[in-house]
Amino acid sequence: MTYSSMLIHESHRKSSMWSKFRCKNSWIVLFLINAFVIQSILYYKEICKWDEIKQEIDIIMGNERITHTLAHSVLKRLHRIITGVDKDKLNLDENSGVIYAITPTFVRPVQKAELTRLSQTFMHIPNFHWIVVEDAPLETPLVTKLLADSDLTYTQLAAQTPKNYKLGRTDPNWKKPRGVEQRNAALRWIRDNLKTSDKGVVFFADDDNTYSIKLFNEMLKVKKVGVWPVGLVGGLMVEKPICDNATNKVLGFNSVWKPDRPFPVDMAGFAIGLNLLLENRDAWFSYEVQGGYQESAILQQLITKDQLEPLADCCTKVYVWHTRTEPPLLNAEQMLIKKGKRSNAGIEV
Ligand code: UGA
Ligand code: MN
Repeated sequence: MTYSSMLIHESHRKSSMWSKFRCKNSWIVLFLINAFVIQSILYYKEICKWDEIKQEIDIIMGNERITHTLAHSVLKRLHRIITGVDKDKLNLDENSGVIYAITPTFVRPVQKAELTRLSQTFMHIPNFHWIVVEDAPLETPLVTKLLADSDLTYTQLAAQTPKNYKLGRTDPNWKKPRGVEQRNAALRWIRDNLKTSDKGVVFFADDDNTYSIKLFNEMLKVKKVGVWPVGLVGGLMVEKPICDNATNKVLGFNSVWKPDRPFPVDMAGFAIGLNLLLENRDAWFSYEVQGGYQESAILQQLITKDQLEPLADCCTKVYVWHTRTEPPLLNAEQMLIKKGKRSNAGIEV
């Protein structure tokens, strides 16, 4: 064999080894790629599976949360029933009478909002009778509908304030008394329709105040006249009777605004036993009293200061606030009205 033929033979041998090696390696690469793809698919499937499980767990936990809150409120309710906190609310005491709330109201942009807020508070009170008296010549459809939709026991009346006693649009609100005609119309209805054998209490619930449900539980304790603090009135955070803990008697009042009033309390700060009003058939509200003396005028005809019954934990709790709703700015609406395109055409607001 010549040297050159030896070289050729050697190169053939090398190339066949190389091709064998390449072939073997491609199998390994293919195998690895395959393994990687399979792993990826398995991994993806695993992720999907965990995702599904996570979603299922989320649903279960959501349901558990709902059940937990539900169980919690049922337990809370049961606790209140067992401990008697809800006695009046559930009307378990057959001696508790009817709460008659008298609300004067008049047409204005916020009227429906005010009455909706009130009605939805009053819906929580059992044995409740709402006497709504509109400052209008006749009952209006808006109030009629609101009451009919409310599920409340109610009486709708209309009693218009005489023109000479009605506040002008620019008059400050202290200039003339509000609610006189309407509250008297309600007192007349009460005296014409209820008997001394009826049990109840009468409260003057202006349409712009804010009432806690707790206030009504206090009212059910009233025999002659019950009193309690009122928040945000008379220039104070709270205007309240000063109550003596030892005797549970009213010693005086903390009022700063017209403190010399015989009864320096706001209309929202007292309730009158139904019997007291039926026995004193001549007790009325009056136009002939100074501004801020409406409350004193009616109470003076019924009771003396020492007979007042302090409520709301000896007048230490605030369950009613003399909130006053700001009239909304409707300047854009005025422009639309001029163009005959009011925003509430066909919509009751
Ligand atoms: C305060 C007292 O909280 C009122 O109970 C009291 O009648 C009034 O002063 C007063 O001295 O006459 P204030 O917030 O200034 O209250 O009175 P409003 O809330 O403006 O009016 C009392 C009630 O009368 C409300 O329910 C209101 O809707 C009604 N009202 C007002 C009318 O029926 N017609 C009107 O023209 C104005
Ligand atoms: Mn008011």
